[in-house]
Amino acid sequence: MKTIKDIDISGKTLLIRVDVNVPLDQNQNITDDTRIRAVLPTINYALDENAKVILASHMGRPGGKRVPELSLAPVAKRFSRLLKKDVQFAPDCIGPQVKAMVKDMEQADVLLLENLRFHPGEQENDDAFAKELSCLCEVYVNDAFAVAHRKNASVVAISRHAPVCVAGFLLKSELNYFTQALENPVHPLVAIIGGAKVSSKLEALENLLHYVDKFLIGGAMANTFLKSMDYEVGASLVEDELLWQARSLMKKATKMGVGFYIPVDAVVADRFDPGAESKILPIQEVPPQWLIMDIGPATSLLYSEALTSAKTIIWNGPMGVFEMDAFSRGTSSMVNSVANSYALSIVGGGETDVAIYRAGESHRITYISTGGGAFLDLMEGKTLPAVAALEEAV
Ligand code: 3PG
Ligand code: MG
Repeated sequence: MKTIKDIDISGKTLLIRVDVNVPLDQNQNITDDTRIRAVLPTINYALDENAKVILASHMGRPGGKRVPELSLAPVAKRFSRLLKKDVQFAPDCIGPQVKAMVKDMEQADVLLLENLRFHPGEQENDDAFAKELSCLCEVYVNDAFAVAHRKNASVVAISRHAPVCVAGFLLKSELNYFTQALENPVHPLVAIIGGAKVSSKLEALENLLHYVDKFLIGGAMANTFLKSMDYEVGASLVEDELLWQARSLMKKATKMGVGFYIPVDAVVADRFDPGAESKILPIQEVPPQWLIMDIGPATSLLYSEALTSAKTIIWNGPMGVFEMDAFSRGTSSMVNSVANSYALSIVGGGETDVAIYRAGESHRITYISTGGGAFLDLMEGKTLPAVAALEEAV
């Protein structure tokens, strides 16, 4: 896969696909600009080379039509501020008006296009739409790791039309860190897997089984493993249809000599509510009708000890309902344990990154991915369609 550094871009017109699908509040204020800041190195490099920089991205899921609340206009303003230069905003991503705006661009100008997903062609991976986009540029740069798992026109079909296709710095480093953690790790390699559902992580667990030395399991998905061992889990979220698979996965782990840690205690609540009555109990004592909301302090201690020998850590998914203060301790103590470890630590985006930023520990984590779904697909051992497209492009 070629990168932006491998070709001559000086003075050329670049279309850089970024993923600035950032969270907005109800007034369209950006609440977290991590994904915007993550693509600045590629943009700054292009500007230093006097390229004309066209930026394209999606925002949310407008479903192929114009949804004003999902406009990228606020992102253009943030780019202006971060790049310390005027960033123009185009009211669409294709069409005559956009072409005219591109034609007017001078070297080192930046133009952000409106939400790609306002057109149905984007998510349909439509060739004609991709061709329209590719017409805008001399060089296509993909720096949108977080959407690399989607077969969308601006990341897949476009590689059949753009004259030159290369990766940007973010895409490259996301893939490099992941490879370093999983394919060439310094052992012991520990995977911390949390989140609500086993169903969404089962493929990842199956695949990781072949790489890791230990699993530390948390979040509501731990309930399914606990129940499969006949523990009482009360009214907690459980995937009953996966009990058999959960059990067989644990057996496989034992056979392969992979450590499989599940919680030994829990913070339980009488209802799913921030103000619920709560107790800390050994896992053997979860009362019927109560809900497991977080791992307990004994589990946090056990997991922290299990991490002391780790040389590489890969983490995806919170340990409990960390959005509610009363049930956030398990996740925040895991953040501290990972930050305190001497391991190379790679954390997936989506939710786990939020917990790390909230704890103010991002500087003590080796790498925090900007991808949620894309990171999970990598953990499942899948090839990302956008990466395959770039590799195929000549
Ligand atoms: C994300 O936030 O996960 C990416 O931007 C992809 O968005 P999507 O899940 O709507 O395809
Ligand atoms: Mg998503």
